[in-house]
Amino acid sequence: MKHILITGGAGFIGSNLALKLVSKGYEVTVLDSLSKQIHGDHPEETSPLYQSICGKVHFIKGSVTSREDWIKALRGVECVVHLAAETGTGQSMYEIQKYVNTNIGGTALLLDILTNSEHSVKKVVVAESRAIYGEGRYYSEDMESYVYPNERLDADMMKGDFEVKYPGCIRPLKLVATTEDSLVHPTSVYGITKQVQGQLVHLVCPSIGIAAVSYRYQNVYGPGQSLSNPYTGILSIFSTRIKNGNEINIFEDGKETRDFVYIDDVVDATILGIEKQEANGHVFNVGTGVPTDVLTVANTLIEKYGIQVPVRVSGNYRLGDIRHNFADITAARSILGFEPKWSFSEGIAEFVKWVNRQEVQKDNFEASIAEMKQKGLYK
Ligand SMILES: NC(=O)c1ccc[n+]([C@@H]2O[C@H](COP(=O)([O-])OP(=O)(O)OC[C@H]3O[C@@H](n4cnc5c(N)ncnc54)[C@H](O)[C@@H]3O)[C@@H](O)[C@H]2O)c1
Repeated sequence: MKHILITGGAGFIGSNLALKLVSKGYEVTVLDSLSKQIHGDHPEETSPLYQSICGKVHFIKGSVTSREDWIKALRGVECVVHLAAETGTGQSMYEIQKYVNTNIGGTALLLDILTNSEHSVKKVVVAESRAIYGEGRYYSEDMESYVYPNERLDADMMKGDFEVKYPGCIRPLKLVATTEDSLVHPTSVYGITKQVQGQLVHLVCPSIGIAAVSYRYQNVYGPGQSLSNPYTGILSIFSTRIKNGNEINIFEDGKETRDFVYIDDVVDATILGIEKQEANGHVFNVGTGVPTDVLTVANTLIEKYGIQVPVRVSGNYRLGDIRHNFADITAARSILGFEPKWSFSEGIAEFVKWVNRQEVQKDNFEASIAEMKQKGLYK
């Protein structure tokens, strides 16, 4: 497979993937709408991500919600890596139609074209997300089994009680790594769209002789991630707050954790899925397998930038957020031969070096919170 189409290939993961594939000798086409939220008002001048791929790939400005754009982009392509999406978990809770149209609608359109038209596609790789799991996997000593807690209750969180609960369990639940066969029960509209994207691709592709691979990336970070988008990427959001000398508002009690995976590892895992036949038909978690709490992230960034800003553990919370999740990456290890090369401390050092070379971006965080507050989703 030599000709690869990356949708969303001007985005954070897509642009890094595109450059790596080009360096490996692949012909790469990118279909991307250059969304204002990610790339700014004038992407040609203001988007370093777009600029990084410009002239290196065959670029088509267009939308995955347009049949015409898909048909143009699919010409001569052997593998589609479908990354284009609306990606803000909180935002998805009130921009519901937009999220469903782009994420589910875009994937449906691709599959409709592949089913009903002539094409050269042999493989589709799609980005799901760890968001499809909702709360991660836990072990209950009371039940002597794994349990999958539901979304936390507003009434508990209002009292400052943020830990997950499971009916009938008195002893605290023990967080364990989330395997791919864990219960899928997203707590956000974004998570639902990612679940359906994966299901559509795995259901339709094999029925028309196309290989399907999907990835459940954990929290991806690293050079290139948007520093102006206040809706996703806490390392970026915190960095832009710090660089503007603004206080960091730590939601909940700061002990909530995520599995932060460095961009180069995500690109490597994705390329293994493109190249390896053994990947076909599988879904892979991509993370480091190590949870890191949000307060540690904030304090590490402050220390590395050497800029003192107040850190306020506010007890605020957003409906739809999960408490913990980290990945079991056994499948990616054993089937793909994937091994994450970047620890969090190495990756964050590299990220900070990169941020220090960028212009300080306008801090849009307060406006995004005001939006959520107005919708009743931020407490
Ligand atoms: N970054 C993460 O932590 C993470 C984690 C899990 C899953 N994912 C998934 O990986 C994929 C890539 O994520 P990312 O972090 O690179 O996101 P990103 O927001 O940086 O990039 C998405 C790209 O898609 C483009 N896009 C948006 N709507 C489009 C449309 N209608 N048509 C064409 N292009 C459109 C945007 O312009 C942008 O360039 C997404 O599907 C996302 O859901 C990301």
